[in-house]
Amino acid sequence: MTTSKRIVISSDHADIPLRQAIAEHVAAKGWEVTDIGPVTAESTHYPKHGKEAAERVASGECQFGIIVCGTGQGIMMAANKVKGIRCGVCSDTFSARMIREHNDANMLSIGARVVGKGLAFDIVDAFLDAKFEGGRHATRVDMIEPAED
Ligand code: RB5
Repeated sequence: MTTSKRIVISSDHADIPLRQAIAEHVAAKGWEVTDIGPVTAESTHYPKHGKEAAERVASGECQFGIIVCGTGQGIMMAANKVKGIRCGVCSDTFSARMIREHNDANMLSIGARVVGKGLAFDIVDAFLDAKFEGGRHATRVDMIEPAED
């Protein structure tokens, strides 16, 4: 059973201050935040952090995940390898809204070297404030997971 209103947040070393700022921003919106680090800016490996965050979502411990690396791409690829995860990289608010409304994304990835903090916050807001529309979109989302088997 998914714990509602809980979000896991993680990153690699690319921009820990941005990840922490996003965590504070999300908490201020009323979400419970599980920030799984890393804490220091020592060089690390994005696949590890993407997988760890994705497993918190796939297990139901967290409703959503927000992950950050330099481009947002590598950590997104790692997260999407975990069964049940639908993660998109967003550099604009339209995409952030649409991955919830049409794709029922449960994770959002942001490129810290692509967008600034203000836009990152707007992207997070667009993602969290949007609702999955279901209907024909549910049919299509249901077609994604069997393709993994
Ligand atoms: C780290 O330098 C960088 O490669 C990583 O943050 C990310 O952009 C990979 O996709």
